[in-house]
Amino acid sequence: MARNKIALVGAGQIGGTLAHLVGLKELGDVVLFDIAEGIPQGKALDLAESAPVEGFNAKLSGTQSYEAIAGADVVIVTAGVPRKPGMSRDDLLGINLKVMESVGKGIAEYAPNAFVICITNPLDAMVWALQKFSGLPANKVVGMAGVLDSSRFRYFLSEEFGVSVEDVTAFVLGGHGDTMVPLARYSTVGGIPLPDLVKMGWTTQEKLDQIIQRTRDGGAEIVGLLKTGSAFYAPATSAISMAESYLKDKKRVLPCAAHLNGEYGLSDMYVGVPIVIGAGGVEKVIEIDLQGEEKAGFEKSVGAVKGLMDACKGIKPELA
Ligand code: LMR
Repeated sequence: MARNKIALVGAGQIGGTLAHLVGLKELGDVVLFDIAEGIPQGKALDLAESAPVEGFNAKLSGTQSYEAIAGADVVIVTAGVPRKPGMSRDDLLGINLKVMESVGKGIAEYAPNAFVICITNPLDAMVWALQKFSGLPANKVVGMAGVLDSSRFRYFLSEEFGVSVEDVTAFVLGGHGDTMVPLARYSTVGGIPLPDLVKMGWTTQEKLDQIIQRTRDGGAEIVGLLKTGSAFYAPATSAISMAESYLKDKKRVLPCAAHLNGEYGLSDMYVGVPIVIGAGGVEKVIEIDLQGEEKAGFEKSVGAVKGLMDACKGIKPELA
């Protein structure tokens, strides 16, 4: 059986971590693309030299040419610049939008049948622009955000309750920005929804509110610690879970920035919602019932994403 081909566009910290995970999980052969001379080649060779120790079989190569991604089954896009302390993700819009244009064209030309996962910030607006620039079907282009935000939420909850991360489920919806919406009612410890855990006295509403805010600030917390860049281990592993669900037709239910066409009363925009990812790409958008504050929070977040989309249209009128 032929191995899958996975193209990683951007060979920075996330790109390198993605390549490592693809190798360790034997998801396929890796083509690491970057415009920086030598970096993708160096990282690919370094990782290939680790394969005999780990015992994984994968061909890893680096390139500066889009031609090398030809026929990729999955393309994961991390190209662009990360934020620095004091910046918001939205500050990256102008520079990263230009990057999405050239990446979108490269994918359209060489990997039009791929399942594309975008990680570049500001996420929801960038994945929307990437889909438009590439012209790929909207169900084959998704943004990685909700899996990461939900994983952070799960981790903080597991610490608070002193339980295994495996027994904590959580959902974070909305845009991947300061307005994201961690949903307490749809998050559980051992199957028990968080509001019930407050009623049972296992935690307090105040503590829960602090965890929710820490989740919203999760990206900035890492940027503040690293100083020279943003998170890469958790973003990479989150994107790999999406790629794996596609390649193995796992049909996982994952919160991702997905193209909405009527769902949640929204059209032609990307925002974080639960979706089913299988061999058909985005096979279903799950419309969960949002109430009261949840609904208001989601609407506010949608408004913020729309503002960023308008800014993109202002820079690149062809996106309108
Ligand atoms: C994250 O959430 O870690 C990423 O979006 C990177 C960032 O700038 O916060």
